[in-house]
Amino acid sequence: MARLSSWLRLAALIGAAAVLAAPSFQAAAGADKPKLEHGKGDKCVEDTDFMRRNHMELLKHHRDETVHQGIRTTKYSLKQCVACHASEKTGSVAATKEDFCAACHSYAGVKLDCWDCHATKPMAKQPGQADAQAEVKASPLMPNPQNGGAKQ
Ligand code: HEC
Ligand code: HEC
Ligand code: HEC
Repeated sequence: MARLSSWLRLAALIGAAAVLAAPSFQAAAGADKPKLEHGKGDKCVEDTDFMRRNHMELLKHHRDETVHQGIRTTKYSLKQCVACHASEKTGSVAATKEDFCAACHSYAGVKLDCWDCHATKPMAKQPGQADAQAEVKASPLMPNPQNGGAKQ
């Protein structure tokens, strides 16, 4: 009898540990993830499912210099994420809890410091960005494409 109850206690512990260990992104990326705006174009820079799981690894820089330097290409530029994923409504990826990046993160309880330095909106001034670079980075999100793309 004593043996059975300690076995039950152990089983309960293992069960609780499994629940705690389940990565939070499974909830965020699973069937009950928050409703997300689709993003420009028809696909992401990598397979959607891969992005759901691994976008943080592609983006982190100061935390993991080696990995970052290994993969640092414009392909995974934060500016490009923002250009494609800014909300139609707010023009931002993280102004409200419905905006693309914030939607999942608030759901999953992830808090980013990235926006202290990086713009959440396309075309805003970026840290360390030269003006010449801003010219080249013209995107479909330039204000007023209707007026022939004239700058405001
Ligand atoms: C203290 C300010 C600061 C914080 C906080 C910060 N960054 Fe940066 N980041 C910079 C600067 C400065 C550059 C270099 C200038 C540039 O390339 O725009 C940079 C460059 C980058 C780049 C390469 C350039 C690009 O646009 O893709 C990525 C990716 C990036 N940061 C991601 C992040 C992510 C993700 C976070 C949050 C986890 C973050 N950064 C937080 C200052 C910061
Ligand atoms: C060329 C435009 C474009 C760029 C650049 C882009 N994305 Fe995407 N992204 C999309 C589209 C479109 C989808 C939806 C694809 C689908 O429905 O299969 C998507 C999907 C995603 C998803 C999955 C969303 C979901 O439904 O679960 C994540 C996460 C994501 N992107 C993050 C990023 C990050 C981080 C970056 C920058 C490194 C980035 N994206 C750059 C267009 C883009
Ligand atoms: C499909 C849901 C989803 C979307 C959309 C999403 N994220 Fe995430 N993101 C997560 C989850 C969940 C985590 C935490 C993963 C973990 O704890 O391992 C995370 C973590 C991160 C991290 C690492 C944070 C840290 O402190 O380690 C960065 C950076 C990040 N996301 C950037 C972005 C950016 C930028 C966007 C918008 C372009 C975005 N994410 C959109 C779900 C998402």
